[in-house]
Amino acid sequence: MPRPHVFVTRQIPPSGLSLLAHEEYEVDLYEKDAPIPREELLKRVKGCDAILSLLTDKIDDEVMECAGKKLKIIANYAVGFDNIDLQAAKQRGIIVTNTPAPEVSETVAEHTFALLLACAHRLIETDRYTREGKYHGWGPMMLLGVDVYGKTLGIIGAGRIGWAVAKRAVHGFGMRVVYTSRTRDEAFEQEFSAEFLGKEQLLMRSDFISIHLPLLPETRHYISTDEFSLMKKTAFLINTARGPIVDEKALERALRTSRIAGAGIDVYECEPLIDCDVTDHLELKSFSNVVLTPHTASATIEAREAMSMLAGKNIVAVLSGKDPINPARVS
Ligand code: DGY
Repeated sequence: MPRPHVFVTRQIPPSGLSLLAHEEYEVDLYEKDAPIPREELLKRVKGCDAILSLLTDKIDDEVMECAGKKLKIIANYAVGFDNIDLQAAKQRGIIVTNTPAPEVSETVAEHTFALLLACAHRLIETDRYTREGKYHGWGPMMLLGVDVYGKTLGIIGAGRIGWAVAKRAVHGFGMRVVYTSRTRDEAFEQEFSAEFLGKEQLLMRSDFISIHLPLLPETRHYISTDEFSLMKKTAFLINTARGPIVDEKALERALRTSRIAGAGIDVYECEPLIDCDVTDHLELKSFSNVVLTPHTASATIEAREAMSMLAGKNIVAVLSGKDPINPARVS
C-alpha cells in the first residue's frame, strides 16, 4: 500500500507535522517561508491525499482538480475558512476542516483586549510620545484616555471567541456585555448577564464594539457607512475577525470625520495591503487613534501549536476513515 501523501503549503509549528510523520505519511512541505505561488501550488498538490493549507492559500476547484481523485481532506490551518471553496469541495466529496482549538479562542480574546486597551489608554500614542522625548513632566490633562471599567462592550458573534472575549470583559474588566448573533444564546446571556440586541441597537449602545464573525457573502461590509452613523462618537471598533467584514473606506471616513473615537484593527480588506486604495489620501496608518497589528491575533506559540496539532489530527482522522474532528460548516 502506498503511504498517504500530505502536502503542507508552508512551514507550521512542529506538533501536527510530527503527528503526520509518526503515522508514516509522506509529508511534502513547501520549503519557503512565504505563501506558495499559485503555479507551484497547482503542481505540488498533484496526487495527494490531504492538503494542509493556510488562510493565505486560495483553495478553489482548480486546486482540487489538480490534486486529483485521491484528495480526501483539506485541513485549513485557521479558524476561518473563507479561502476555501466549500461548495466545490462538497461536490467533489472532499472534507474541509479548520482549527478552532480552545487555545486559539483564548489567544484571540487576549489580542482583542490588547487592542481594546491600547485604544482606550492610547498605549501606542503614549509610547511614541515617550520615546520621542516629549515627556517633560506630569500634567493633569495630558494624553487622557478613557476607562474600560463600567463600559458597554458590544460583541458581534457569540461563538467560541465571542465567549472568550465576554469572559474577560465581565470577569476581568467589569464591563457590561451586549451582543448580537444569528441566534440567541441563552447560556451566553446567563453566564455574562448579557443582553441580546439587534445590530442597530448594539451599535447605538456600545462603547466598544468587537467583531467575531466569519467572512461570508452576507457578512461582507457588515459594518459600513450606515453602521458608523449609528455608533457613539466615543465608540471604538475592534476587528480581529476578517478585514472585508468592515468597509475600509467607510471606516476611514468615520475616523476622518471623528464619527467614532478610534479603532483597533488586526485584519484588512485587501490583505496584506493595509489599505486597498490610497488615491483618496485616506490611510489607516495616518490616524493616531488607530492601533494596527498584522493579522497576529492568534500569533502565540501556544495557539499556533494547538492549531498545528488539530490540523494534523483532522488529517489522521479522515485518512483513517473516521469522521473529521472539526468539519468546516457554515451553519
Ligand atoms: C484564523 O485562525 O482564522 C486566524 O485569522 C489566523 O490564525
